Amino acid sequence: MIYFDSAATSYPKSRAAVRAVTEAMRSCGNPGRSGHAPAMRAAKIMYECREKAARVFGTDPERVILAPSCTAALNMAVKGYIKSGKVLISNLEHNAVCRPLYAMRGAGRIELVSFDALAEDAVGEFAEKVKGAAAAVFTHGSNVCGKLLPLAKLVKRAHENGALTVIDAAQTAGYAEVSFERTGADIVCCAGHKGPGGPMGTGLLIVNRALDITPATILEGGTGLYSRDEEMPDLLPERLEAGTPAVALFAGLSAALDEFSLYSDFSAFDLLCDSLRDIKGVTVYCPDKGEERLPVLLFNIDGMDCDDVMNRLARKGICVRSGFHCAPLAHEALGTLNGGVRVSLGKQNTVEEVKIFCREIAAMAKTRL
Ligand code: ALA
Repeated sequence: MIYFDSAATSYPKSRAAVRAVTEAMRSCGNPGRSGHAPAMRAAKIMYECREKAARVFGTDPERVILAPSCTAALNMAVKGYIKSGKVLISNLEHNAVCRPLYAMRGAGRIELVSFDALAEDAVGEFAEKVKGAAAAVFTHGSNVCGKLLPLAKLVKRAHENGALTVIDAAQTAGYAEVSFERTGADIVCCAGHKGPGGPMGTGLLIVNRALDITPATILEGGTGLYSRDEEMPDLLPERLEAGTPAVALFAGLSAALDEFSLYSDFSAFDLLCDSLRDIKGVTVYCPDKGEERLPVLLFNIDGMDCDDVMNRLARKGICVRSGFHCAPLAHEALGTLNGGVRVSLGKQNTVEEVKIFCREIAAMAKTRL
């Protein structure tokens, strides 16, 4: 099998991560609810996971909210930290950013404005449009075409205008530098199961030490402390973590974080881009070599439906994603209104796999000429 769908989730998960999930399921009680050994083992796992994530992002463990997904984290961040006013997004956003904001707009809470992240002067356009905005919520890197946004520059322009920054780092944690020291962002949300290599069902909402806002809650319930209060505690992470958490999954994420390192060898991806671009009848959508990019690209074969291409590859044991990738704005921006085939690499992928893949695509494209 050739797995080229790392933007959906990393695969395979490490043995240590799998072992940690099983071990936690065998040995853990409910964290933060008691002082007996199984409960304390669970509490330790949760805290260690927070600590490790906090080190990657450069914040305090208490400012790491362990969420069920990046989508849940983004919902909490957007609905919890933004009250009203103008909100700026890019034209590459995933529905995990757009839909919570559309819901807020529908409720008359906010006004939405978008900037063109693919424009040559995206930073200039952003700087103009962020004037008077309450917040800018945008992706660090596109899940459709792999475009990396100049995060630090955009955050700086947002802060010059007093706007809060909420970043969707679903695709970039583990692929690009996401520490607060480098980005300056206020809040970063990411998936635990993509770049970080943890299990699906894990997400992180990470808050900069410098941000001093008590968020509104979108989920209320048991926290194991201040139980007599009618309201959720003000304290993070408890304020945003109601209910029993997925301890076993966070045990897996914690084990995966022990092995955390950035994707850095782009040789297989560079070959993939160049080789696909050389195939007649294939159109590739991704930033050029030398530009800031993720190992993610979209392509189409003239005259072929993208789902058909994906299914043919699947029958040969090659895993890619096709369709709209939950990001209709990005497809509009790229002009791929019929969708596309996405190829996304992880550290395990090799140049040899890329060569096999490109031979398959060349053969498919040839039948259409
Ligand atoms: N958001 C994930 C993707 O892009 C699932 O595939």
